[in-house]
Amino acid sequence: MLAAVPAGSAEEALLGRVDFARLPRHIAIIMDGNGRWAGSRHLPRVEGHRAGIESVRAAVETSARLGVQVLTLYAFSVENWKRPDTEVSALMGLLKRYLRLELNSLLRNDIRFHVIGERDRLSREVCRELEQAEVRTAGNTGMIFNIALSYGGRAEIVEAARRLIRDGVTADAVDESAFASRLYTAGQPDPDLLIRTSGEMRVSNFLLWQIAYAEIWVTDALWPDFRARHLLEAIVDYQRRDRRYGAIASPPVEVGKA
Ligand code: IPE
Ligand code: IPE
Ligand code: MG
Repeated sequence: MLAAVPAGSAEEALLGRVDFARLPRHIAIIMDGNGRWAGSRHLPRVEGHRAGIESVRAAVETSARLGVQVLTLYAFSVENWKRPDTEVSALMGLLKRYLRLELNSLLRNDIRFHVIGERDRLSREVCRELEQAEVRTAGNTGMIFNIALSYGGRAEIVEAARRLIRDGVTADAVDESAFASRLYTAGQPDPDLLIRTSGEMRVSNFLLWQIAYAEIWVTDALWPDFRARHLLEAIVDYQRRDRRYGAIASPPVEVGKA
């Protein structure tokens, strides 16, 4: 990682402050603000989505190099189907383009690609490309990169309930782990850190079950402006937090006492 940042840069200074023993295991990002980024430049919204690809690349490569176990990017929500057809098809086109351009880099960085969301609502062509990327990266053992597409947190919870019933789980056997093992993120640690760009203070139906105790970090930066520096800032800030999980604050360490 250190080799990839320029000497004397803000990234290098931030990296020096990261405690690698306490990295968030799972980082989830709500990539927001593409439309506003384009609007402020008098460009069509799709140009904001296109520019956001560079930010995806930065988030994926930086997380993998740092040693984060799971990165989940919110790319398209179930609610985003309400957008005009032209915008939806432009987004799907950019997704295909991203996969074609980045598959080799995912392979090189030992990243496992995984789609979460309602796949059956995506076009057959998009599904096929996504599946190919999943199959080709399935043997990788490094970071898991979940991409949330046609994803909704409530829909995921409803689907988990259906799976419990289909699996014949009895009411007494339904517990949190039975539920979690039927979510799209089964087997993965829950997000420790949830990032949202463009200053919006809401979760917009993202990973509702999994973010129960995530630390939230919001930046005013719009997604197309998001770079490694922002991710490192979020991690440094996360590491300053006291995660209490409902218990009392950890007592301050008393110097000089055994
Ligand atoms: C995020 O940017 C990308 C998606 C939700 C697909 P937006 O398109 O929501 O951009 P804003 O929020 O309108 O600026
Ligand atoms: C959330 O962004 C969804 C994604 C980033 C894919 P939106 O722009 O759709 O969310 P709202 O409408 O501001 O809540
Ligand atoms: Mg938005």
